[in-house]
Amino acid sequence: MCGIVGYIGPKNSLPILLEGLRRLEYRGYDSAGVALIHDGKLEVHKKAGKVADLVASMKGTHASAQLGIGHTRWATHGEPNDVNAHPHWDCKHEIAIIHNGIIENYVALKIKLQKDGHTIRTVTDTEILVHLIEEMYKRSHDLFTAVRLALLEVEGAYGILVISTKEPDRIIAARKGSPLVIGIGDDESLVASDAAALVDHTRQVIYLEDGQVACLTADSVTIKTIHDQEIIKQVEEITFDLEQIEKGGYEHFMLKEIHEQPTSILNSMRGRLLLQEGTAKLGGLEPVMDKLLAAKRFIITACGTSWHAALAGKYMIEQLTGIPVEVDYASEFRYRNPVVQPGDVVFVISQSGETADTLAALREAQSKGATVLGIVNVVGSTIARATDAGVFIHAGPEIGVASTKAFTSQLSVLALISLLLARHRGMSKEQGITIARDLQSVPEKIEKVLTQIDQIKYIAEEFKHAQNFIYLGRGINFPTALEGALKLKEISYIHAEGYPAAEMKHGPIALIDENMPVVFIVPKDAIYDKVLSNIQEVRARKGRIIAIANEDDTEIGNLSDFVVRVPRTLSYFGPIVNSIPLQLLAYYMAVARGCNVDQPRNLAKSVTVE
Ligand code: F6R
Repeated sequence: MCGIVGYIGPKNSLPILLEGLRRLEYRGYDSAGVALIHDGKLEVHKKAGKVADLVASMKGTHASAQLGIGHTRWATHGEPNDVNAHPHWDCKHEIAIIHNGIIENYVALKIKLQKDGHTIRTVTDTEILVHLIEEMYKRSHDLFTAVRLALLEVEGAYGILVISTKEPDRIIAARKGSPLVIGIGDDESLVASDAAALVDHTRQVIYLEDGQVACLTADSVTIKTIHDQEIIKQVEEITFDLEQIEKGGYEHFMLKEIHEQPTSILNSMRGRLLLQEGTAKLGGLEPVMDKLLAAKRFIITACGTSWHAALAGKYMIEQLTGIPVEVDYASEFRYRNPVVQPGDVVFVISQSGETADTLAALREAQSKGATVLGIVNVVGSTIARATDAGVFIHAGPEIGVASTKAFTSQLSVLALISLLLARHRGMSKEQGITIARDLQSVPEKIEKVLTQIDQIKYIAEEFKHAQNFIYLGRGINFPTALEGALKLKEISYIHAEGYPAAEMKHGPIALIDENMPVVFIVPKDAIYDKVLSNIQEVRARKGRIIAIANEDDTEIGNLSDFVVRVPRTLSYFGPIVNSIPLQLLAYYMAVARGCNVDQPRNLAKSVTVE
């Protein structure tokens, strides 16, 4: 999704903005631009395409300005071209704005502004906002106030930065529904949609909240609500390292993140998995333990990959605790007037903590009186702050657009929650210890899967020209199949479907012929024989079978065209291990097809629009 960065201070802002935008590239975007105030004049450069295209288009310009804002846009209103790219400016070319989010009432505002004589040049909702600020500036002659007054008339979501030639010593920032973090340096201030763009310059940050507007000068930050109440905010320290968000020798972030999983899963369990006691300790849930134990039902809501984790979590929680779990897409939950009963506990899962649909589902559940708990990666994110309590997954920054390590850490946290609840509901200590030991061994098992890369590359070469794929699994590996299919379509643009294996005969079997690759997740669990029957059904129709099977499975080799071996785990934790070869398969297929793995077309890392 769109990225924002702003700088004011003694240095030349342009290289700082461009480097900041590069750090935000992982979010996915389709155009980029900067606005600088230089010798009292507003200078804007913008270009469809990548930050590199913007830089190329600026060759020959020698802008050196101590105040500037930069943006990467992911189109919502108006196609991704040079004109619609941000920044946008007012009629007099004095005020510039960059904006993440959507102004919902922009049509009504546009009609009014046009009547008042404003000339609107683009079809974007953002341009309307800068004209509205221009209008308010006529009344207040103060940029901070003008932005505040304009925002009082706006419906929708925004993270914005505004600068003006009339006040070249400040950046005005405001947020509602789209994150902004302010960086405090030595005689310089920065602001960005993501701390990744700031860490080169400072670790001292202030997270702006919804409904707040900030005025940044080189040596001060003033924050107010849009209703003009002054706010005192705490300065916090960023704790992650820069190298954590760099590629560390891997060709792509996605590959680096796949390889990080033994460590990221360990981090998600560190200090939480109590082997001796056969249980888990989750400090973030302690304040709500009474509610968790009294709950008659859980609801889990999320989007995309996080929704797949939720679905696997349903199997874990139901099997280990006997408490019923409903899983819902956040985008559906928010609008279907869901039945939430007193005592229900709702979990929301989100890597970014900024997904608009998930945030809305969270608010819907809270408005209905549920206790809402987060399973979130990004500390300080909107969802993390809006939930009543929760558990951070501690996967570290996930840069590749296709989620990998966040997914497996979400699963390991769901496993910890299941174990903790199960022990409180009567699971014996012995059984708890068996489960805890198995969970503890998962990172090591993933290391083993990572040694299968040559086989996976070979399979990818074999199928790189395929146009369709089917992924089949049963029980808790049905969500694994869904996730495998999603990874493949996201980054290699091959059409892929995931199904419960037994559902195949109710329709998808019509698609099977000698050209159809079918990936079976077939661990030696209680339903192994059933899945073998499904494999036979595909074989009988000449489908090409790729099996993800256990190391000690001696039958599968005769039934499949290709096998990737994975160590055995307790069935509850199967998806954590079994999804690794599927991530690798998607990755190597995408590489073999020459796709942009880390920034797949049309996708954004953090989906802050509904
Ligand atoms: C897929 C992917 C998306 C996200 C979804 C939710 O690889 O990354 O499907 O899982 O957009 O995002 P979060 O977890 O940030 O709420």
